[in-house]
Amino acid sequence: MQVKKLSELDVRGKKVFIRADLNVPQDDAGNITEDTRIRASIPSIQYCLDNGAAVMVTSHLGRPTEGSVGPDDTLAPVAVRMGQLLQKPVRLVQDWVDGGFEVKPGEVVLLENCRCNVGEKKNDEALARKMAALCDIYVNDAFGTAHRAEATTHGIARFAPVACAGMLMGAEIDALTKALHDTKRPLVAIVGGSKVSSKLTILKALADKVDQLIVGGGIANTFLLASGKRIGESLAEPELVKEAQAIMDMMRARGAEVPLPVDVVVADEVSALARANRISADEVGPHDRILDVGPKTAAKLSEIIANAGTIVWNGPVGVFELPQFAGGTKMMASAIAHSEAFSIAGGGDTLAAIAKFNIADDVGYISTGGGAFLEFLEGKTLPAIAALEERFER
Ligand code: 3PG
Repeated sequence: MQVKKLSELDVRGKKVFIRADLNVPQDDAGNITEDTRIRASIPSIQYCLDNGAAVMVTSHLGRPTEGSVGPDDTLAPVAVRMGQLLQKPVRLVQDWVDGGFEVKPGEVVLLENCRCNVGEKKNDEALARKMAALCDIYVNDAFGTAHRAEATTHGIARFAPVACAGMLMGAEIDALTKALHDTKRPLVAIVGGSKVSSKLTILKALADKVDQLIVGGGIANTFLLASGKRIGESLAEPELVKEAQAIMDMMRARGAEVPLPVDVVVADEVSALARANRISADEVGPHDRILDVGPKTAAKLSEIIANAGTIVWNGPVGVFELPQFAGGTKMMASAIAHSEAFSIAGGGDTLAAIAKFNIADDVGYISTGGGAFLEFLEGKTLPAIAALEERFER
């Protein structure tokens, strides 16, 4: 994958337009509840400021209706947080597409929610050309939005005088490429979450590559069903049992495996007051709900992780938000933290588990991508990265 990199360019005196992914969660009052993506955008911005560029940054926030900026759509709270992190004021600019605002070298402005501009989502060429005309250098640092071909992630890259990858985009591409293409074996993938249907493509793509595919949550329940186990009232998708069987067969045929739970933690409801029981995977009753893996399974998964060369993690193995069902995910997190393997993790639930079990410093790389992380792992071409590749020579 060959793209121009911001760190290799001379930005002095240049107008730099950075597309970041500052789509951060907020509470009902608009307070930012998790600022990883803002912090991850700082190195590129700081590099440009330190080297005398005039910096414009933009991002989408949520999925607004194009044509106006509603109260929930504004990047105003992001501007405040970014200013704190950069230790300098970050001015928020409205109605910026046609220019008419000033940015001096060494100054940074935040351009209001780019998804409020008409034509952004459809990757409108006229809009892309106008935005490209605002800058000398276009930087795409929005890995989290790299799977979308929109005017600020794709079109602008075609028309800006220079188009390059920012520091975060570069780090994401390097880490994911290392995990997938420059892989130290055994390669172990952990795919957890509630539904096989929402992760079927990634499960199939990984089944073709990995040595062990650890499944968790509702996904594991569907696999248990496919291997002939009773799962009571557990969350599962019986209509996808054939797909699960095909994945296990495909893995087995090439000497790889899907290690299924041998014991589980069950309860009759998902609630903080639920009483948890540890039982064998063969003893699940008609009214039981499987909410975590049991200790024997957790130990087995930990051993697989301990022996891995590379670990890719997306999704928890149990309802880790509730303490009585957090054991499996906690033990797995600890195994990843202690493993010598190169580990890469991504996705909202996974990041929440990493924060809860306090292992952020011990994971090889934590991706800021959700959908983009999965699509990269699936082997899909991400349009925003493809646009940068097309500009490599010119
Ligand atoms: C994300 O949160 O995954 C990215 O910011 C992309 O957002 P989108 O799914 O609304 O395009």
